[in-house]
Amino acid sequence: MNSFVDLPAMLAACPARCGTVYLVGAGPGDADLLTLRAARLLAQADVVVYDHLVGPEVLALIGDGSERLYVGKERSHHSMAQDDINRLLVRLARSGRNVVRLKGGDPFVFGRGGEELQVLAAEGIAFEVVPGITAACGVASYAGIPLTHRDHAQSCTFVTGHLKDGSCELDWPALARPRQTVVIYMGLSGLATICAQLVAHGLPQDWPAAVVAQGTLASQRVVCATLGTLADAVAREGLQSPCLTIVGQVVRLRDELAWFGTQDTGVPATTHLSTIEA
Ligand SMILES: C[S@@+](CC[C@H](N)C(=O)[O-])C[C@H]1O[C@@H](n2cnc3c(N)ncnc32)[C@H](O)[C@@H]1O
Repeated sequence: MNSFVDLPAMLAACPARCGTVYLVGAGPGDADLLTLRAARLLAQADVVVYDHLVGPEVLALIGDGSERLYVGKERSHHSMAQDDINRLLVRLARSGRNVVRLKGGDPFVFGRGGEELQVLAAEGIAFEVVPGITAACGVASYAGIPLTHRDHAQSCTFVTGHLKDGSCELDWPALARPRQTVVIYMGLSGLATICAQLVAHGLPQDWPAAVVAQGTLASQRVVCATLGTLADAVAREGLQSPCLTIVGQVVRLRDELAWFGTQDTGVPATTHLSTIEA
């Protein structure tokens, strides 16, 4: 139970027994990356409200008696508007049911979790948050790309390549500094622009960069290239969403550290490290 809820206000807003909303992170894809707490809550929830990035293996953990409501958002195709999702959560909790609001990755990383909780807090609905492994951490691990490394990157920045109004305005001078790793969520459609801006703001054309599609899943694919070649390489390979872009010298480490989806020969099945220029 969160400690910020004003109990008298909550009781006034919820005359009947109000349920609790559990904002739960489902992790990046592989169901084994779910937390134990998330799995327990899924088994016990009265209703689970879930997004499109939550896979079938995670959904299989929902208890038999639970209702499932899909409210997924895909780029340019929102099955339910955010305001309607917010209202739905309030209505379900007010009906006395315990609700799991299940989101891909971590709910507080580019997941609108904060926005949804603000509405619940204002309505006096009790909530808890269960963190999940965010895509940057899960996908980088399964791609064999450490996000930091003492020889290559002393910091790591997560940014979104897709803003609310569809534009992609980022702090390019800050992102184009060396000795850091930049992870771009939702950057596939703007990939050519992102690479060009990083070069325009000082990074060399041959700076390592990778796109990982469907990371942590059996269908994971990784394209490693450079800022100068990545957009074309990704288009050529026809990578499908969700995709995460990783920029920085750490990308080269995949050559040594790739482990997931590698064949018996130890050669990664889908990498293109040869496209990294020396
Ligand atoms: C709306 S954001 C949600 C992020 C999520 N809350 C998290 O913490 O990972 C969706 C973006 O996350 C990234 N993403 C999520 N799962 C991914 C996966 N399995 N492989 C690659 N990228 C992924 C993609 O960039 C996708 O467009």
